[in-house]
Amino acid sequence: MNRGNPTKGWLEQRFPLEPLRRFVKEQAGKLMPSHVGFWHTFGSLALFLFMVQVVTGVLLMVYYRPTEQTAFESVQFIMTKAHFGWLIRGLHSWGSTLMIICVLVHMIHAFFAGGYKKPRELTWVTGALLLLCTITFGFTGYLLPWNQLAYWATTVGTEITSVIPIFGDYMKTILRGGENVTGETLSRFYVVHVVILPWALTGIVAVHLVLMRVQGLSTSARVGEEKPIDPKSGVPFFPHHVLLEGMVLCLLIAVLMTLIVVWPVELGEKADPLTTPEGIKPEWYFLPTYQLLKYFPKTLGLFVSIVPVLLLVLWPFIDRNPERDPRKRPVAVALGVVSLAVMVLFGIIGHFSERDITFRGRQYHIDMYGKPHPIENAAPEPSAAPAP
Ligand code: HEM
Repeated sequence: MNRGNPTKGWLEQRFPLEPLRRFVKEQAGKLMPSHVGFWHTFGSLALFLFMVQVVTGVLLMVYYRPTEQTAFESVQFIMTKAHFGWLIRGLHSWGSTLMIICVLVHMIHAFFAGGYKKPRELTWVTGALLLLCTITFGFTGYLLPWNQLAYWATTVGTEITSVIPIFGDYMKTILRGGENVTGETLSRFYVVHVVILPWALTGIVAVHLVLMRVQGLSTSARVGEEKPIDPKSGVPFFPHHVLLEGMVLCLLIAVLMTLIVVWPVELGEKADPLTTPEGIKPEWYFLPTYQLLKYFPKTLGLFVSIVPVLLLVLWPFIDRNPERDPRKRPVAVALGVVSLAVMVLFGIIGHFSERDITFRGRQYHIDMYGKPHPIENAAPEPSAAPAP
């Protein structure tokens, strides 16, 4: 018994702490490949942001009321009257955007580093499920303030499912809880957002992390040629990597707070199902798919929307090349670069489509396919007006 520290002695008498202490020491001292650095911090950043979402989400639930009549007003109350409500909502809203970005960067890094190859296929599959959960978190949460933007973006977003042949319209009705987006949709999205997704994500993250710990992080060696980490070149998880993660985390918190202060989250007007505002678009992470679907007939929509998701989840079983070094996998790397470029390009076209823009002093209308049309008889820009 430890007489110098009575609390420890008291607890130890009732619960064997030694195995736990040994486990933590073993995990903290675990060696990591020497190349592990900045790009390997994004998984932990995503995990941190998920924790921020849980804490701020629980605080928001104290005042949020998920009905058609009260949702908007309760968010208005949080923003204007509840102590630090603006900060909690800002953390939750910007936190979700940053979480999606961190998960995407983490996935792109694992793809190009070949981190998904044998024996880490299941780490990738659980990761891909985490990405789908994270995006669904964003999609369901977007409706909850029940403002015009949320209402119409959800109408557009749920409409996307109808491109799926046979089941599409049925799925749309299940999602909306009827023909249109109503209070019924709000209830469904709320339950998915605050009960189903948090538990699903927690469970999948646990499996993802256990797999990652059991297999260790990958090196650039070929599949089947990975060797145990050399104690001379390997770096211990604690303090080396934990310190680096702490520094990047401080940067992330600085970025998060700056975003909340410089671009405060707005609420806009209450949802009005009878008035469609102009230029309604889904959230940025749906824009590439939303834009791509415009170019395909309804029957091909299935291939554009479902096939890329299946390819993503099952990628480790499709790419059988044993090389991990990106220089030795030109086909996979080219495919990754082209897919990223297509997503960025269609995201940008989606952003500018169905809008009027001014380019070099001339006004254009960008149609739904992204084609610019000069606007004749447009009022001249103030700077282009001739001097009196
Ligand atoms: C909430 C989302 C996620 C969390 C919290 C998370 C967390 C982590 C952490 C902490 C690591 C170890 C450090 C690192 O390599 O960054 C890791 C490794 C890994 N993750 Fe994730 N992850 C998430 C999503 C994803 C996604 C979307 C994918 C891919 C589709 C993915 C695939 C992987 C792979 C393959 C590894 C092993 C990398 C290697 O050994 O080099 N993860 N994850």
